[in-house]
Amino acid sequence: MSKTPATRVPQHLAIIMDGNGRWASRRGRPRWMGHARGARTAREIVAHCARLGVKDLSLYAFSSDNWKRPREEVGFLLELFSSHLESQLADLITHGIRLSIFGRRDRLPSALVDAIVHAEARTAAGTRMHLHVAIDYSGRAAIAQAFAEAPDLPDASTALLPPVDLLLRTGGERRLSDFLLWESAYAELAFVEAFFPDLTPSMLNEVIADYASRERRFGDVGAAATPASAAPATRV
Ligand code: IPE
Ligand code: IPE
Ligand code: MG
Repeated sequence: MSKTPATRVPQHLAIIMDGNGRWASRRGRPRWMGHARGARTAREIVAHCARLGVKDLSLYAFSSDNWKRPREEVGFLLELFSSHLESQLADLITHGIRLSIFGRRDRLPSALVDAIVHAEARTAAGTRMHLHVAIDYSGRAAIAQAFAEAPDLPDASTALLPPVDLLLRTGGERRLSDFLLWESAYAELAFVEAFFPDLTPSMLNEVIADYASRERRFGDVGAAATPASAAPATRV
């Protein structure tokens, strides 16, 4: 179990769940096996985050650019989302987890949209943690949509999430791949080499412990800063 005090746990944790395909390829297995294992890991990580006291957990499951992948892989992923939504529903309700899917819905199969609407309605009363899962999501598109909906107050748009405190990407790549661009303006970034199926609760604890040791300044001076008046006078 975690020893991280609840106060140092990020309120909003976002995870780019990357490396499923490589996890499988390294084992000489088809990529879909990596996605299936990734879904299992996602279930464990969700439960762990709820225990830790994370308030908002955002998972990147399928980007709008992932439509470029081979038809069979895309088809497998969409099926996996439908079946996962159904199989996890009772657990989410039991643990007080509210589920919201964000991203475009107009290109998803209607059976998946039905499963999403059903799961969101059934978990709507959950107050322990809000789980946001990105499917057919693009950060750039979300920003454009937010400004179209509310040009003066884009933060009030449903296309945007709360600010991200900690953004973790598994799988060794160090890029955002169009995830939560607006919301991550002051996010602390963390990258781990492990492929997503290999991410464990204790690895996540380590990432959170490292996050807890950082000083976030949001443009201000740091806690250890000396007063400006103590600096030697300079003439401009
Ligand atoms: C992330 O794993 C899951 C999705 C994008 C759906 P990948 O499928 O990108 O795995 P790698 O990066 O090819 O190993
Ligand atoms: C980002 O991973 C999308 C998800 C994890 C769902 P990708 O594997 O699609 O990103 P790139 O192509 O390596 O940038
Ligand atoms: Mg990838």
